[in-house]
Amino acid sequence: MRDKVRVGIIGATGYTGYELLRILRRHPAAEIGFCTSESYAGQRYREVFACPYDYPLIAVEEAPLGEVDVVFLCLPHGVSAPVARRTLEAGARAIDLSADFRLRDPAAYERWYGHKHEAPELLPVAVYGLPELYRERIRGAQLVANPGCYPTSVILGLWPLVRDGALERKTIIVDSKSGVSGAGRGASLKTHFVEVNENFAPYSVGYSHRHVSEMEQELNASGTGPYELTFSPHLLPVNRGILSTMYVWLREDWSAQRVRECYEGFYANEPFVEVLPLGQLASLAHVANTNRCVISISPVRAGHYIICSAIDNLVKGASGQAVQNMNLMLGFEERLGLEY
Ligand SMILES: NC(=O)c1ccc[n+]([C@@H]2O[C@H](COP(=O)([O-])OP(=O)(O)OC[C@H]3O[C@@H](n4cnc5c(N)ncnc54)[C@H](OP(=O)(O)O)[C@@H]3O)[C@@H](O)[C@H]2O)c1
Repeated sequence: MRDKVRVGIIGATGYTGYELLRILRRHPAAEIGFCTSESYAGQRYREVFACPYDYPLIAVEEAPLGEVDVVFLCLPHGVSAPVARRTLEAGARAIDLSADFRLRDPAAYERWYGHKHEAPELLPVAVYGLPELYRERIRGAQLVANPGCYPTSVILGLWPLVRDGALERKTIIVDSKSGVSGAGRGASLKTHFVEVNENFAPYSVGYSHRHVSEMEQELNASGTGPYELTFSPHLLPVNRGILSTMYVWLREDWSAQRVRECYEGFYANEPFVEVLPLGQLASLAHVANTNRCVISISPVRAGHYIICSAIDNLVKGASGQAVQNMNLMLGFEERLGLEY
């Protein structure tokens, strides 16, 4: 009987893979079983990433999936689903950081992601891995779909009001800003240093970013909608962090005090969500390098509020949340390895 769970990281050489290693190396109940890379198989981790981590990198096909308890999939969407299937067949649990299992409807996946789903038979067993909404279902899951980074910030920022049916207007304007690591490690013109540095630019505005589908799916699961989003993401010239600003109009019977009580009540026992006191505003500095989501509520005029929600895209928006999910799946204390 081993005293630590063994974990495998598929796609360990990307930004989320590196962040997982950073967290899991300090996790008291986990040890690294294997790390994979597409381009650097055969080399050692510290040869390809500026860090002291000395793990051999192996190709995905050689990963001993049956020799670990949990596999984290840090792959591009489309590539991830078949590896998730193999992981489950090998008897390990899978936590997928890609978008492959986030949308419950395969037709919606095909519409938003532009290709057929590679493992649609697994969609009914996948659990959307946002612990604040689905904690009990995550505990028993074999396959967890780790939420997207923008959706984590937006859903957590809106959920208490949405759950309680407080919104008068069902079209919600969301304005999000992300650090550049959100786009992954592969170079592109959009994330080239000279394009991003000393710049601040919107992209995929309105109704075209793929994360819109995931956010609407979850908000509409409340049954108080239907909601639709007008979503404008922006690229910030920083490495990490997401700040989402949401503009909401509430029903007449929602006083300022009721709004505060709604948020403070819903998040009272959440280890990683903090609702700031009136007058304070959420910022990236509140959350950088942590698994926290920090939310501020600002009254504008009667019935109109601005909600700001900040997370670190690589931690609560990806790898930290994935470890939070692993802790739940394996019956560990939820904060294990994540308080720093
Ligand atoms: N970055 C974020 O903030 C964030 C947040 C939430 C979710 N996500 C999602 O998490 C996933 C990983 O994101 P990331 O930012 O870590 O991406 P990334 O930096 O681009 O890394 C991707 C990883 O996948 C490997 N890979 C790529 N294509 C492969 C293939 N065909 N077969 C096997 N391995 C392959 C790469 O290996 P080599 O480079 O070594 O070849 C690398 O290790 C994506 O689906 C992304 O959408 C990212």
